[in-house]
Amino acid sequence: MNDRLQSDLTAAMRRRDASTVRVLRTVLAAVANAEAVDAVPTHVPAPAESPIAGAAHGLGATDVARRELTDAEVVAIVRGERDERLAAAAELAANGHTARAAKLRVEAALLDPYLETFAVEVLPVDEVRPLRLAVLRHDTPTKNVVLPGDDHPDTRHLAIRTADGRVVATSSWSEQESPDRPGARALQLRGMAVAHSHHRLGLGSQLIDAGRALAAERGIGLLWANARDSALDFYVAEGFDIVGEGFVTADTQLPHHRILRQL
Ligand SMILES: CC(C)(COP(=O)(O)OP(=O)(O)OC[C@H]1O[C@@H](n2cnc3c(N)ncnc32)[C@H](O)[C@@H]1OP(=O)(O)O)[C@@H](O)C(=O)NCCC(=O)NCCS
Repeated sequence: MNDRLQSDLTAAMRRRDASTVRVLRTVLAAVANAEAVDAVPTHVPAPAESPIAGAAHGLGATDVARRELTDAEVVAIVRGERDERLAAAAELAANGHTARAAKLRVEAALLDPYLETFAVEVLPVDEVRPLRLAVLRHDTPTKNVVLPGDDHPDTRHLAIRTADGRVVATSSWSEQESPDRPGARALQLRGMAVAHSHHRLGLGSQLIDAGRALAAERGIGLLWANARDSALDFYVAEGFDIVGEGFVTADTQLPHHRILRQL
């Protein structure tokens, strides 16, 4: 969440979007404040070491210890910043300062996307194909978004929508043996895509968790995929192992590796 706020700030600075820059700077400053726990010296000298009782010395003696906040803590800060603006806007509006109130409401709304909660649901394949096209086919010679197994009755298209119904994350799971573990029941993941606007919010991770739950429900102990090399960091973070040599798929012309996760 913190990384996303930082990269959104950089993007807003590049496009000279003053309101977004102002709001995100305030939020990031509040996060940095919360991360700086009380200024505790990193080295507390023993009485004999220092001529001045309790004096901090040594390298980093006056460094401030920092604690990285969890996503939930960052979200709480974002919510606080949004609510503060809404409360101030209400007060200004009550006193007739409608233009200033409107400006604050716009700033508050800029924080809404960071506060959405997302649930995974099963969708018909037709509803996930537009996102596949936008995310997985913009840089490939093929524009085909019909994947093997799409229409099989046991395949599940696990996806996430925004409150207004836009599909922003999708993944398709079919029962298919892995070439690396012949004979073992396995779920193959295909068509994993998260909308750019929603990267690094944990949606991809939520879909992998949902795939894992589906496997558990069916008594399956293995997940696998042909993964784009550009997404390998994500899959490794999600507990997958990279197996075998790399290869380029004929339709995408992009480098891939096979990945496996034993459950
Ligand atoms: C790969 C993809 C699905 C990841 O989805 P996401 O929702 O952004 O990922 P998450 O927010 O759940 O990330 C979970 C963890 O994976 C790792 N990760 C995700 N994206 C990463 C990246 N670009 N670089 C490095 N690590 C990354 C991080 O450890 C992250 O945790 P953190 O944000 O707390 O640090 C998404 O970037 C995407 O759709 N990419 C384009 C299409 C694609 O390559 N699909 C896969 C085809 S095989």
